[in-house]
Order: sequence, then C-alpha cells, then structure tokens
Amino acid sequence: MDWLHRLLHPDSAPPRTMRLDAGQARHVAALHHRGGFARGWEPAECAALIADPAVAADGVFGGAGTGPEGFVISRKAADEAEILSIVIAPARRRAGFGRALLAAHLARLAEAGVAHVFLEVEDGNLAAERLYRHFGFREVGRRKGYYPKPDGSRATAIAMRLDLA
Ligand SMILES: CC(C)(COP(=O)(O)OP(=O)(O)OC[C@H]1O[C@@H](n2cnc3c(N)ncnc32)[C@H](O)[C@@H]1OP(=O)(O)O)[C@@H](O)C(=O)NCCC(=O)NCCS
Repeated sequence: MDWLHRLLHPDSAPPRTMRLDAGQARHVAALHHRGGFARGWEPAECAALIADPAVAADGVFGGAGTGPEGFVISRKAADEAEILSIVIAPARRRAGFGRALLAAHLARLAEAGVAHVFLEVEDGNLAAERLYRHFGFREVGRRKGYYPKPDGSRATAIAMRLDLA
C-alpha cells in the first residue's frame, strides 16, 4: 500500500530491504549507537560480524540516501538463529520500517533452513516487544539483572522464541 504510506509519511518513500555487506559497517555502527544500548558497537567490530558466514545482516532503506535507515543482524547455528540486534533510525520509527525489515529477515532465515529464532529484549521496551509479538514471537523466559543500564542498575531480559517450521 505505497499510496497509504506516502499519504501518512509524505517525506519518505516506502521501506525497501536489502542484504548488507561489511562495506556498510560504519552505517550499522552509527545506527547501533542510536539504539539506546549501554554498550556501543565499533565499525571494525560490525565489519567482522557482518563478514562472518554464520551472520545474516539486512538493512532497510527509505529515501534517496545511500545508507540504511535501519538494520537487523542475526547469527545462525544449525537450524536455529539468534537475533543480535535490530535498530531503526529515530526519525524513521513508527512508520513500518521495523516490520518491513523483520519480515524480510525472517523470510531470509526461513529460506536458509532456520526453524527456530531466539532473541532477548529488555523488559519495558514496548516498541520492540510489540514488533516481535506481531511476528508471533512468544516469551519463553526471563533473566533478571541481565542488561547493564547507564545509571548502574540492571534490567530484566525477556527471552523470546519464534518457530518458523
Ligand atoms: C524496536 C524498533 C526497531 C521498532 O521499529 P519501528 O520501525 O519503529 O517499528 P514499526 O513502525 O514497524 O512498528 C512495529 C510495531 O511496534 C509498534 N511500536 C513501534 N514503536 C512503538 C512504541 N514506541 N510504543 C509502542 N508500540 C510501538 C507498532 O505500533 C507496531 O505494532 P503492530 O505491529 O502491533 O501494529 C525501534 O523502535 C528501535 O529501533 N528501537 C531502538 C532499538 C531497540 O530497542 N531495538 C530492539 C532491541 S531488542
């Protein structure tokens, strides 16, 4: 429904998704820094991660700019994958970019033979939780004190799982 997207967000084109390669590592690192996480990812660390053959990285693009407006990265082992991070640029949030990106990524994982997808989300991160639940992820456990917070406290992680096959 491109026409609806254009009506609601006249400044942006509908989201397009694409695989990312290590050449886009600095964009990924910059986006990750805007994700609100306690520990940042450095560009070299992102490049090594994306170049890992077990890792799948996808980006979402929305306008004329060359860099992605969001990314998702997961790591595969046998028929399981773990989503390591997903971030949409703050200016593009709540416009369906996260949904478009995760849909493409999960389809790619399913094509690669992944049957079970796991992730962890901070308790209280309603945007991320809602995004995951939209795709059928369900809570399978909680880890108290898992995430360090900038103020020195620690937050609970919710472990979620989605069965693709
Ligand atoms: C989580 C995140 C990726 C969502 O991306 P997004 O492009 O804003 O999400 P979408 O617009 O596609 O919306 C997806 C769903 O989340 C909901 N949502 C998005 N932002 C929300 C918010 N702030 N509060 C409540 N719900 C929200 C949408 O309503 C939608 O729900 P629906 O599918 O039931 O209609 C984005 O908020 C983000 O980058 N957050 C910071 C990084 C982060 O926390 N990553 C997750 C780590 S586990």
